[in-house]
Amino acid sequence: MDQLVITGGLPLAGEVEVSGAKNAALPILCASLLTARPLVVDNVPELRDVGTLLRLLGGMGVSVERASRRVTLCAEHLKEAVAPYEWVKTMRASILVLGPLLARFGRARVSLPGGCAIGERPVDLHIKGLQAMGARLEVTHGDLVGEAEHLRGARIFMDKVTVTGTENLMMAATLAEGTTILENAAREPEVVDLAECLIAMGARIRGHGTDVLTIEGVPELSGAEHRVMPDRIEAGTFLVAAAATGGEIRLSGARPGTMDAMLDKLVEANAFVECEGDQIRLRMRGPNHGVSLRTAPYPAFPTDMQAQFMAMNAVAQGTTVVTETIFENRFMHVQELRRMGANIEVEGNAAIIRGVPRLGGATVMATDLRASAGLVIAGLIAEGETVVDRIYHLDRGYEKLEEKFSYLGASMRRRVAGENA
Ligand code: UD1
Repeated sequence: MDQLVITGGLPLAGEVEVSGAKNAALPILCASLLTARPLVVDNVPELRDVGTLLRLLGGMGVSVERASRRVTLCAEHLKEAVAPYEWVKTMRASILVLGPLLARFGRARVSLPGGCAIGERPVDLHIKGLQAMGARLEVTHGDLVGEAEHLRGARIFMDKVTVTGTENLMMAATLAEGTTILENAAREPEVVDLAECLIAMGARIRGHGTDVLTIEGVPELSGAEHRVMPDRIEAGTFLVAAAATGGEIRLSGARPGTMDAMLDKLVEANAFVECEGDQIRLRMRGPNHGVSLRTAPYPAFPTDMQAQFMAMNAVAQGTTVVTETIFENRFMHVQELRRMGANIEVEGNAAIIRGVPRLGGATVMATDLRASAGLVIAGLIAEGETVVDRIYHLDRGYEKLEEKFSYLGASMRRRVAGENA
């Protein structure tokens, strides 16, 4: 199993290009199931999760051609409407095939998802919404089995904001008979990106980017070409790493307008941040003040950036509080940060972080994708060597991670566990 070896203490400096967004690419690739015509998707990041999804779609009979970051998919004929456990267990987003399969083929069998170990993460809202549209769904032997002769539009209220739930129901509704209204819908930019791709395919969607989506079903969708939006979480991870190491960096190919909550927090932590077009520059004005924050659905502060900010807060001046409101078990990086010398206390869904002057390198273990990113940042700040174990989590969501950090002057390399030096 691969490990990342980081020698900390170097301020990041230089320029790096932001990749396409994982969380936009995954639903958009699934949208190919909604049409018999080719869907061309550009700026698809080269990530483990993307590879998993393409193999899953390929196994169903979707033709997949991949030339670097450009992927052409065609679901003219489907062999089987099945997402087996072996694929689904590693990636929760596989649930995104459910809505499109039911809408176009009237049947689906999807193993119940695994993914990050960050809490219970049920899919009840996906199921309820599809049932409201007329699908019959039941759980048999760990699989969700669904059937629908014809989906019909419905008014669906989701009592929690769910990103993939909104995406699944929006995709299903594009081919349903009549109008679907999704209330309390997710407003995440990745949902908007998917909506724009669906609209290019001929879907009739209004209200994307707000919490009420109106989708008028059409009999069929066509092919289209779509470019995946930049990854705001990857961009944010680099910015926090630069701030935490007292560095100065420039990101290109970013979409700063989707990053307001995190950019504001970086300014509050004492960074100077300048945005121009698709570029973001950051440098520290002085000492890292850290920042208290509370995660919540977009446009508030993203849960996917919580661990990274916590690593920065670990060496800030003063005490900060990080409150997690989305996932009940998303503080698994705390124990590892403590092993590096951080002073963090957890009370319920809040972590109280008392800044310490320095962290010390240690061997730490990544437990989920974004927790791992937090540990990488801690390694960049720490004195001495940090070994981040189980980095397959990072490979799920960060393209060319060590290469990009190395461009920025970090000392970071990958090795197979057990290999010396
Ligand atoms: C997506 C993102 C993930 C991010 C998360 C929150 C993708 C592929 N992943 O995950 O990176 O951390 O949004 O921004 O886009 N819930 C229910 N019932 C449901 C569905 C969700 O109770 O049927 C709850 C979850 O347990 C959680 C909250 O709703 O507490 C939000 O989860 P959700 O937005 O669905 O997360 P994902 O879409 O899985």
